[in-house]
Amino acid sequence: MNAVIRGTGGYAPEKVLTNADFEKMVETSDEWIVSRTGIKERRVVSNGETNSDLCYKAAQRALEMANISPEDLDMIIVGTVTPDYFLPSTAAVVQEKLGAFNSAAFDVAAACAGFLHGLSIARGFILNGNVKRVLVIGSEVLSRITDYTDRSTCVLFGDGAGAVVVEADENGVEGGSGVLSSYLKADGSKTELLWIPIGGSKDPITQQNVDARGRYIMMSGNEIYKLAVRAMCDAAQKTLDQAGIGTDEISWLIPHQANIRIIEGVAKRLKIQDEKVYLNIEKYGNTSAASVPIALDEANRRGMLKKGDYILMVAFGGGLTWGASLVRW
Ligand code: ACO
Repeated sequence: MNAVIRGTGGYAPEKVLTNADFEKMVETSDEWIVSRTGIKERRVVSNGETNSDLCYKAAQRALEMANISPEDLDMIIVGTVTPDYFLPSTAAVVQEKLGAFNSAAFDVAAACAGFLHGLSIARGFILNGNVKRVLVIGSEVLSRITDYTDRSTCVLFGDGAGAVVVEADENGVEGGSGVLSSYLKADGSKTELLWIPIGGSKDPITQQNVDARGRYIMMSGNEIYKLAVRAMCDAAQKTLDQAGIGTDEISWLIPHQANIRIIEGVAKRLKIQDEKVYLNIEKYGNTSAASVPIALDEANRRGMLKKGDYILMVAFGGGLTWGASLVRW
């Protein structure tokens, strides 16, 4: 049995925030942002757009490509840390919007690694024979939890969604398409390096802690940076080892788009040439769980992914959480 990606979809809201816009909001410059991060612009929601709206649009595109109707889905998994509500899950809201009433639906909170956690869960259910078709989405509305007075974080984040339809292939044979291996890891001892301290059940929102700006993403960027490179390389290597594939056999590295310097560091350590690294960070910034599936969909729709290609996806984020998946296209 193989878990095969039959369709991909992506969606980014229309409203664009450029580096020039940030120059008017905080003390920063296009030169600083581009040289330190690689980001030129990012998309943000407007006119009441919600996370589930972004999910819905990305999902429709993935379903259309897969030629699968929503009623045929057995499961919907949404990787997100910016759900529409605490209750219910965004996946349940998406189920209703799609009319996918034969599916289970739940969210996965693993920050930037949320999509890869979802993909790994989908693969597990499929290989166990429990389900046949899973919609996996990574989607975020980070603009709602970004402090636009904090220059060290606000220039980094954007909104968007990416989706894949994964289907069981019972004729899966050696050498066929599919998700070949996955590796997931977390380190809960470093929570405070990247978190939102208030708004959960431990410290519910009060006027006082809202005034102290505790409801926004807080990040120790420099420490995260160093940990990210090491963890992403480790996850990538373990995923490749599981499948017995060498880095020289990789056609595409599709990394979480958080910082161009992190991506370059990972590619260099893994000895993957620059031309095999898919980049779109300059257009979207860091969209957390959405970043890997948006990039995968872009590469796919541009015809860059050929049958038989080995595609390595890797991500790192809050929790801390990280992971990688290897796909034979
Ligand atoms: N414009 C101008 N100056 C700035 C800005 C800005 N937007 N932001 C920070 N600075 C200043 C700082 O104040 C500091 O000034 P100082 O030396 O006078 O104190 C200086 O620039 C250097 O700051 P650093 O934080 O050391 O800058 P660094 O080179 O590390 O880049 C960055 C910061 C881009 C945040 C980087 O650390 C990074 O990308 N970290 C990892 C982010 C990440 O991968 N997060 C995980 C995923 S996110 C998620 O899970 C939701």
